[in-house]
Amino acid sequence: MRILVTGSARGLGLGICTAAAKRGDEVIAACRKSTAELRALAVRVVEGIDVAEESSLQRLRDALGAEPLDTVVCNAGINVSCSSRSIDELDLGALAKEYGVNAVGTARTVQAVLPNLGKGSKVILITTSGETLRRNPSRGGSYGYRMSKAGINQFGFLLASEIRPRGIAVRIISPGPVDTDMTRIIGGAGVVLARAPGQMPDIVTAGRKVLGQIDELTLEDTGSWIDQADKRWA
Ligand SMILES: NC(=O)c1ccc[n+]([C@@H]2O[C@H](COP(=O)([O-])OP(=O)(O)OC[C@H]3O[C@@H](n4cnc5c(N)ncnc54)[C@H](OP(=O)(O)O)[C@@H]3O)[C@@H](O)[C@H]2O)c1
Repeated sequence: MRILVTGSARGLGLGICTAAAKRGDEVIAACRKSTAELRALAVRVVEGIDVAEESSLQRLRDALGAEPLDTVVCNAGINVSCSSRSIDELDLGALAKEYGVNAVGTARTVQAVLPNLGKGSKVILITTSGETLRRNPSRGGSYGYRMSKAGINQFGFLLASEIRPRGIAVRIISPGPVDTDMTRIIGGAGVVLARAPGQMPDIVTAGRKVLGQIDELTLEDTGSWIDQADKRWA
């Protein structure tokens, strides 16, 4: 399959690209700036794709032209609000930034590639755990990250019903804990992690799991949300 992944230069995005390239998929790796690890893969790299920037939409369109895509994975994300635990500490600038990348950036990516998607294509949105839909979360804080990820979930539900008639399926995936810079930074900021980073799946193992969840998606299942324990929440 031809798969496009955003935020592909490191972390989970790099893991998805690595796993996809290994099994022979045609990978288009969109990123702000490439890395040695990404350059080492047999993938096509499209640099200068900052999902928070409007100009990136056109840059991505120019890079793709009329090429059809089987799958787009909206993976790029940030978590800068992890150290604010209360409403008093909440940094609204950070919150807006998280919305800009996580929620608006995801919608922007989908807008950019929609002309390249058709019957049988899949849109994958990387979200976070079921906490973002729970009335009584197990811990507080990280307002901006969790609010923006909840925005992705709603975007996915709306998008799924809108583009189902075109034969395009949407799935929202919470990858569960993955050993990346993000988990190391939030662990360092004092957030209690379910597992220590060294005990979390590495990026390629997690990427392979996401690919499996993409493969099994059908149009009948569009709008489904997979959480880390592979439970369907919606
Ligand atoms: N790790 C986990 O346990 C976990 C759990 C649940 C959900 N997730 C989600 O999984 C996704 C990947 O996270 P990760 O753990 O791999 O985090 P990470 O190691 O911090 O990597 C984040 C990726 O997103 C990219 N990115 C950030 N801002 C961007 C922007 N404005 N435009 C384009 N790309 C941008 C980064 O690119 P640069 O190199 O250019 O900064 C990097 O490739 C995120 O959506 C995250 O919320 C992760």
